[in-house]
Amino acid sequence: MKIRILLVIVSLVASVLIGLALASRGGKTTGAGQDDWIVIGLSLDTLKEARWQADREMFVKRAGELGARVRVLAANSDDTVQISDVEKLITNKVDVLVIVPHDGTAMAKGVKMAHEAGIPVIAYDRMIRDSDPDLYVSFDNEHVGELQAKFLLEHLPTPGKGRIVRIYGAKTDNNAALFKRGQDRVLEPLIKSGDIQVLHEDWAEDWKPENAKRIVNAAITANGSRIDAVLASNDGTAGGAIQALSEEGLAGKVLVTGQDAETVALQRIAVGTQAMTIYKPLRTLASGAAELAVQMAGRRVVVAGKSIDNGHGLVPSVLFDVVTVTRDNILDTVVRDGQASYDDVYRGIPDAQRPPRP
Ligand code: BGC
Repeated sequence: MKIRILLVIVSLVASVLIGLALASRGGKTTGAGQDDWIVIGLSLDTLKEARWQADREMFVKRAGELGARVRVLAANSDDTVQISDVEKLITNKVDVLVIVPHDGTAMAKGVKMAHEAGIPVIAYDRMIRDSDPDLYVSFDNEHVGELQAKFLLEHLPTPGKGRIVRIYGAKTDNNAALFKRGQDRVLEPLIKSGDIQVLHEDWAEDWKPENAKRIVNAAITANGSRIDAVLASNDGTAGGAIQALSEEGLAGKVLVTGQDAETVALQRIAVGTQAMTIYKPLRTLASGAAELAVQMAGRRVVVAGKSIDNGHGLVPSVLFDVVTVTRDNILDTVVRDGQASYDDVYRGIPDAQRPPRP
């Protein structure tokens, strides 16, 4: 019972049409009889970060609106647990599996098991490598890295020049490598010319803030306070970095980047200890993925705009756009879209210093 994936490159724009044709299973309709409910399995790496709680909530909501049910399991950053979660969801006979892998390579096994059971797989936000997931739904992650690095260069005390610390994400996460690749593309000429000096760089295991804090502690021990910026790859690691900086009285004096537009990061941007974040509209990703999952479960045709090489072959992919958020556009982006509320963002700011309420 193997699902046939038909990849048709449509003209030069390279649009990809995935025809998910049924081999032996009957397509399901949503919300008909009790037995006909589409059931989606959602296997998450972790729910310990605000962003994944938001993804889960929005995904489940949209799937529910489409008449599908979602079984959610979170693995607490443990590969053995996540593989056993995937096994459980397969045993529960879900119609489609949506996976945020903790380790993008280790999860190839999950894709294989699902396919052996005739269940299609969507790699959600993070690519699953060395395997053949049916679809990858994410943001343009290299562009995230480019935007972070461009912002950093433009906002250094002397634009284009300075001494920086780089904090990458989890080595196990394909996205961390993509963010780095985007950053490298922007920074490398300046690193080569000597205008940008990387004082210290490291990977924050499992994206943990405490590991990011340790990286900045080590940088300060080796270089003292002569640091112009910390290129942190997400808001969690930015938080750890800012904690280390504040212990040395440097918070707000050293530029720190981020990603995710988490409410705590927006609060730091409002008070000035973090300079920017990247807003990835989670509702677009979560709702879009839920819609595609329902289509795949119903064995309907899914249209993807791109195909991305995951080390095994080309994976049909849907990538959404991202936006740089600074103090100047918080209201026009995340608050306008309802990803954060005005009251939450400006909680730490006296009324007189807040921007006018929209
Ligand atoms: C996601 C980021 C997130 C990080 C840590 C990455 O794969 O793209 O949005 O901050 O994982 O969870």
